[in-house]
Amino acid sequence: MALVQIYLGALVAGLDAGLSYNTWPLMDGALVPGDLFVQQPFWLNIFENPKMVQFIHRLGAYVLMAMVLMHMIASLRAAPETTHARRSVLLFALVCLQALIGIVTLVLQVPIGWGVLHQGGALVVLAFAIAHWRGFVGEYPRPE
Ligand code: HEM
Repeated sequence: MALVQIYLGALVAGLDAGLSYNTWPLMDGALVPGDLFVQQPFWLNIFENPKMVQFIHRLGAYVLMAMVLMHMIASLRAAPETTHARRSVLLFALVCLQALIGIVTLVLQVPIGWGVLHQGGALVVLAFAIAHWRGFVGEYPRPE
């Protein structure tokens, strides 16, 4: 999901969609803005309509946060006071921080420093999520 979200971010950056609708949580005065399907055929909007692309990147962030939150709650319940549970809390904190940086980037109309920080933050989130997932598999086999 982090990887999908990064791809959606690339669409936002590529279309300069971060320079339009610089408000949060509302976009164009609404939680779900109008004119999301102005282009034909309708599926083109997902890739080429800046409004739709920005909106999907926002939704993706909410979905990612919700998934990481559920994972954190499940980990804290199933294996409290373990390294894995503590890391799930850190992962949730990182995703929240990344979303906050994204919002600031948007509201300030993409100053280069914030844009780069948001890109770098995405790599930290992805790297940490992968390392955290590897923890499920257990130790590497030890040499005999
Ligand atoms: C929480 C998970 C998020 C991740 C992992 C993420 C990831 C990314 C990445 C990797 C890019 C840059 C892509 C590129 O330059 O090729 C990007 C761009 C952007 N994101 Fe996010 N993002 C997240 C949340 C958000 C949120 C919540 C907002 C605002 C509501 C936001 C606003 C933006 C904007 C405005 C850009 C374009 C910046 C530019 O034009 O350089 N992001 N995102």
